[in-house]
Amino acid sequence: MTKHELINAAIAARERSYSPYSRFAVGAALVCEDGTVFIGANVENASYPLCMCAERNAIYNALMNGRNSDEFAGLAIVAETEGPCSPCGACRQVLSELFPKEAPIYLANLDGDTKETTVSELLPFAFDGGDL
Ligand code: THU
Repeated sequence: MTKHELINAAIAARERSYSPYSRFAVGAALVCEDGTVFIGANVENASYPLCMCAERNAIYNALMNGRNSDEFAGLAIVAETEGPCSPCGACRQVLSELFPKEAPIYLANLDGDTKETTVSELLPFAFDGGDL
């Protein structure tokens, strides 16, 4: 699967966003080594802290379908932002726990701007299970 195919899957996932409060729809798509794609979109709640981000939903979707972190080969995140959409701090922490440190993460917007990064770049010096 190409970078553009994965980003397009995230754009399609974004259509499933439930975001009546922020009106900020985010889509994510995670591809496994065998080419299977798991999508996520942000899902909000009137009790605002319960909102769940798109990228976390994509990761949890993959896990709930029986996949393991070591199968994860790429992730795309898309929103209608000025530049490529940057993941929030909470998602960076979850990615640090569950996404391979050096696998490609494609940040994108709806204008075709993209940036490739990794968990290592997004959250250096992370707190993890080894610290407990
Ligand atoms: N959001 C995401 O889905 N991913 C991020 O990394 C940033 C924020 C969502 C959460 C909320 O539904 C909306 O965007 C506004 O913060």
